Amino acid sequence: MGRYTTFTLFLTFGIVFQQSCGIEVNVQDKDNKLCLYANLMVNFSVSYEVAGNKSATAEFELPSEVTTVGSECDTTSSVLKLNFGEGHSWSINFTANGKMYQADYITFSYNLSDATRFPASVSNETTSVTVKPHITDVDMDTCYSCKSNDMIETDLVNQTLWNVLIQAFVSNGSKSEQISSCAADLPTTAVPTTHSTSTTPVAPVTNATAPPPTTTPTPTLPTPSTGKYSIKPDDNSTACLLASFGLRIGYKQADKYQEMNFDPNGTTVSGSCGVNSSELVLASNTMTIMFTFTNDMQKFRLHALNVTGSMSSGVSFSEANTNLSLWEAAVSSSYMCNKEQNYTISSLLTLYTFNLQVQPFGVKKGAFSTAEDCQADAESFLVPIAVGVALLVLILIVLLAYFIGRKRNVATGYESF
Ligand SMILES: *[C@@H]1O[C@H](CO)[C@@H](O)[C@H](O)[C@H]1NC(C)=O
Ligand SMILES: *[C@@H]1O[C@H](CO)[C@@H](O)[C@H](O)[C@H]1NC(C)=O
Ligand SMILES: *[C@@H]1O[C@H](CO)[C@@H](O)[C@H](O)[C@H]1NC(C)=O
Ligand SMILES: *[C@@H]1O[C@H](CO)[C@@H](O)[C@H](O)[C@H]1NC(C)=O
Ligand SMILES: *[C@@H]1O[C@H](CO)[C@@H](O)[C@H](O)[C@H]1NC(C)=O
Ligand SMILES: *[C@@H]1O[C@H](CO)[C@@H](O)[C@H](O)[C@H]1NC(C)=O
Ligand SMILES: *[C@@H]1O[C@H](CO)[C@@H](O)[C@H](O)[C@H]1NC(C)=O
Ligand SMILES: *[C@@H]1O[C@H](CO)[C@@H](O)[C@H](O)[C@H]1NC(C)=O
Ligand SMILES: *[C@@H]1O[C@H](CO)[C@@H](O)[C@H](O)[C@H]1NC(C)=O
Ligand SMILES: *[C@@H]1O[C@H](CO)[C@@H](O)[C@H](O)[C@H]1NC(C)=O
Ligand SMILES: *[C@@H]1O[C@H](CO)[C@@H](O)[C@H](O)[C@H]1NC(C)=O
Ligand SMILES: *[C@@H]1O[C@H](CO)[C@@H](O)[C@H](O)[C@H]1NC(C)=O
Repeated sequence: MGRYTTFTLFLTFGIVFQQSCGIEVNVQDKDNKLCLYANLMVNFSVSYEVAGNKSATAEFELPSEVTTVGSECDTTSSVLKLNFGEGHSWSINFTANGKMYQADYITFSYNLSDATRFPASVSNETTSVTVKPHITDVDMDTCYSCKSNDMIETDLVNQTLWNVLIQAFVSNGSKSEQISSCAADLPTTAVPTTHSTSTTPVAPVTNATAPPPTTTPTPTLPTPSTGKYSIKPDDNSTACLLASFGLRIGYKQADKYQEMNFDPNGTTVSGSCGVNSSELVLASNTMTIMFTFTNDMQKFRLHALNVTGSMSSGVSFSEANTNLSLWEAAVSSSYMCNKEQNYTISSLLTLYTFNLQVQPFGVKKGAFSTAEDCQADAESFLVPIAVGVALLVLILIVLLAYFIGRKRNVATGYESF
C-alpha cells in the first residue's frame, strides 16, 4: 500500500514537472493583445565538424531563457521566433486560410562559434536548416496539441518537438480552450500505416511543394444523443408530426471520409404537416437536415432528404436525394428502428440513425401510434416465438406426467375420477 502511494505521488509530480517544464511564450500584437501562444519543448541534435576531419554531435534542449524578438502576428500569417544563447534561433511560420491554420516551416539557426554548445567546431559560421513540421489542418480558434514526440530529421540536424501546445492566430486576446490533437496522440485504433509518428522521417522543406500525406484517422464517435422533435400545426394544438432519433452523417470528400454527429441541443425545429406530404426541418449549428415524408395509398415513407452543412474540417456540403423509399409504414402507425442503421443518401453522403421512431401523419393526442418495426428488429419477434415453444414443451411435459401417473394409478388398482 505504502509503495503504491509513493508511486502515485511520484507519477503526479512527474506530470506536473513535465507540464511546467515547457517553454511558455506569449506573443502580443500591436495593441498588446495576445495573438500567439506557445508552450513547447524542442530537443536538438546537431552534427558538426571538428578538427581532424571528424564530426561531433551536440545535443541540447531549447533553454527556458528565450526572447521573442522577431515574432509577429498578422491576420493570415504569423511567426514565432525564439532566440536563445549566443545567436541561436528557432522559428516557426504559420499561415491561415479561413477556417484552418498550419505551420509551413521551421527554421533553426545555430552559431557554430558558440564554444559551449559546439566545442572545438572548425567552422565559426551561423548555419540554418529549414524543415516542414507535421502541423496541418488545425481548426481556427483551437490550440494544436501534441504530447507525442515528433522528430524532424535532416542530414545534420535532428529536432524533436514534444509536449507542444500552440495557438497561432489567437482572436480577442484570449487563448482557446479547445484543442486539436495531433494524430500521434489519438488512440491508435485506425490504420497505423498512414499517419506519421515520431519516428517517421520527413523531407526537408527544400522539396516541400507536395504536402506530406496526412490521413487523419477518424476517432470512433460516441453514439449521438437522441433528439425528440415535433411539429404542431398551430400553437394551441397537439403535435401532428413526431420524430425521435439520434443522427450521424458520413461525408466522403476526395480521399477523406468524415463522420459527424447531429447535436439535438440547440436545434431549431420547423416544418409542416400536410395530407399527402409532411416536412421536418432540423437546423443545428453545423447542419440543416430536411426530411420530406409522403403519404400515398395509406402508406407513408421518407421520400426526400436534403442535408447541408459543414464538417469540422471546414468543408461545406449540400447533398440531397428526392427519390427515397425509406421508413415505410401504414399511415395510422409509426415507424420504429432501434438498431443503428445506415442509409446511402448519395454517393458522398451516408445517414446513420439510432433509436429511430417517426410518425409524419395521423398523430393522435401527441403520442406515437403503434409502431411498425424495421427488419433489423425482426429478431425481437423471436422472443414471443421462443416463449410459445417453451409453453408448448411445458404443456407436453405436464400431459406426459399426467398419462404416466394415470397408468401407475390404474396399475396399483386405484380408481381415478
Ligand atoms: C530531451 O532532452 C532531455 C535532456 O537532454 C531529455 O531528458 C529528454 O528525454 C529528451 N526528450 C526527448 C523527447 O528526446
Ligand atoms: C538523427 O536521427 C537518426 C535516426 O535516429 C540518426 O541516425 C542520426 O544519426 C541522427 N542525426 C543527428 C545529427 O543526431
Ligand atoms: C575529409 O574527409 C573527406 C571524406 O570523408 C575527404 O574527401 C576529404 O579530403 C577529407 N579532408 C581532409 C582535410 O582530410
Ligand atoms: C556567435 O557566437 C560568438 C561567440 O559566442 C559571438 O561572438 C557572436 O556574436 C555570435 N554570433 C551571432 C550572430 O550572434
Ligand atoms: C571565422 O573563421 C575564419 C577563418 O576560419 C576567420 O577568418 C574569421 O575571422 C572568423 N570569423 C569570426 C567572426 O570569428
Ligand atoms: C523533390 O522530390 C522529388 C520526388 O520525391 C525528387 O525527384 C526531386 O529530386 C526532389 N527535389 C529536391 C530539390 O530534393
Ligand atoms: C390559443 O389559445 C389562447 C387561449 O387559450 C387564445 O387566446 C389564442 O387565440 C389561441 N390561438 C390560436 C391560434 O388558436
Ligand atoms: C445544451 O447547451 C447549453 C448551452 O449551449 C448547455 O448549457 C446545456 O447543458 C446543454 N444541454 C445538454 C443536455 O447538453
Ligand atoms: C392528395 O392526393 C390525392 C390523390 O393523389 C389528391 O386527390 C388530393 O387532392 C391530394 N391532396 C392534397 C391536399 O394535395
Ligand atoms: C437542399 O437545400 C439547400 C439549402 O436549403 C438548397 O440550396 C438545395 O437546392 C436543396 N437541394 C435540393 C435537391 O432540394
Ligand atoms: C427513383 O427510384 C426508382 C427505384 O428506386 C427508379 O425506378 C426511378 O427511376 C427513380 N427515379 C428517379 C427520378 O431517379
Ligand atoms: C451499414 O449497415 C450494414 C447492415 O445493415 C452493415 O453491414 C454495414 O457494416 C454498415 N456500414 C457501416 C459503415 O456502418
